[in-house]
Amino acid sequence: MRLDELGDWRRTHYACEIRSKLHGTDVTVLGWVYKIRDLGKIRFVVLQDRTGRCQVAVSKDKAEGDVVSKAERLQHQFVIGVKGKVRKSVSRFGADVVPREIRIFNVAKHPLPLDITEAIPAEIDKRLDARIIDLRRDSTQAIFTIRNVVVNAVREFLTQQKYVEVQTPKIIASAAEGGATLFTIDYFGRKAFLAQSPQLYKEELVSNFEKVFEIGPVFRAEKSHTSHHMSEYTSMDVEEAFVNAGDVMGLLEDIVIHALGAVKRQCKHELELLGQKALVAKKPFEVLTYDGVLAELKKAGVAVKWGEDIPTPALRKLGEIHKGFYFIVDWPTASKPFYIQPKAGKTTICEAFDLMCGHVEIASGGTRVHDKDLLNRRIEEQRLDPKSFEFHLKAFDYGIPPHAGFGIGLERFLMCITGKKNIRELILFPRDVERLVP
Ligand code: AMO
Repeated sequence: MRLDELGDWRRTHYACEIRSKLHGTDVTVLGWVYKIRDLGKIRFVVLQDRTGRCQVAVSKDKAEGDVVSKAERLQHQFVIGVKGKVRKSVSRFGADVVPREIRIFNVAKHPLPLDITEAIPAEIDKRLDARIIDLRRDSTQAIFTIRNVVVNAVREFLTQQKYVEVQTPKIIASAAEGGATLFTIDYFGRKAFLAQSPQLYKEELVSNFEKVFEIGPVFRAEKSHTSHHMSEYTSMDVEEAFVNAGDVMGLLEDIVIHALGAVKRQCKHELELLGQKALVAKKPFEVLTYDGVLAELKKAGVAVKWGEDIPTPALRKLGEIHKGFYFIVDWPTASKPFYIQPKAGKTTICEAFDLMCGHVEIASGGTRVHDKDLLNRRIEEQRLDPKSFEFHLKAFDYGIPPHAGFGIGLERFLMCITGKKNIRELILFPRDVERLVP
């Protein structure tokens, strides 16, 4: 089919504006064909753009020029432009565009791999294979609108509090979070890694900016096939000088409450579409100790060996008991990374915390080690190679202040907000052991 040029056509109105109050107005709308209904004498074309939908009504015996033949060629997801007049109607939109001219800018292959109207449900893998179409469906759009609101709310909150947004390297020379989940890359013949987190850089940067944050991609070579581990996800990291774990736990509470408030205010329609109530949280969040959690789990019939990280099935059990947001503190030092400060007087436990929402761990952080000798010892204790931390350790020769911080797994947080059980739903193009495309 010969395609039309965009030429000088520019949108005058978004689809969501084409309602009865525009009766009599000349408009140009641009978008995708969502649905077509042919009633013989009249053909209704529902057009969708980033704001919603409107209806185009082509009266076959009254339309001018090639409008009818163009309307008859249309199929779902064709990209079109319509110039015409708005006319009040009894449709659910309250108005139609009566076209004077239709342009077809592009076509779409048929049959489509997904039903855009969502009348026919589809499994997540089928949806991800056709992600570019899936992202046009209402419920998927709702998820990414919420994601955008959360990211903006966190950024806005931290910027207002004078945190400096930083962008640290993603191609790095040393592991921060342990070797098992490290992607190795060939860097001009040298071994390099994809950053598992901005941990080391954000810690160094508190000696320059004192209060920093980063919202960016991190990479984990997660071999597990779970509903909440991805090889690439977005981490929202915060680090601050002259504070400890308790201080940044308070900050984390504020961030969570601010983001939830923004979603509640700005995403009513999206939450409704997802059948989800707005999540609310109140300060202070409940604080459980690691030992307390192990005792609760034991009572519930789940044994966890002291010193180990709490495995997923045990967390699921814990989530049955604690529904909202809560912290777990006083972790065994050996279960946390080398940069976490052991507790004064009781070095087997450390100043780390995890923030949970039900059974989902959405953030973790703590007070950091700022004493270089201790940091060296912790690196050795964790059987890491001190050589690979040479550059990081150098920074500790030039005045690293006491500091603390945390990292929020953006998609984990979104799982709680949207009620989605699979983290893949919350990432535009997810990466896991099997999936490298699209
Ligand atoms: P941690 O490794 O616990 O800590 O990660 C922080 C948060 O990121 C999320 N998360 C993940 N989300 C999706 N897929 C994964 N594979 C994945 N792994 C972790 C979780 C987790 O709580 N540097 C520290 C943070 C800090 O101390 O500042 C760190 O990265 O929500």
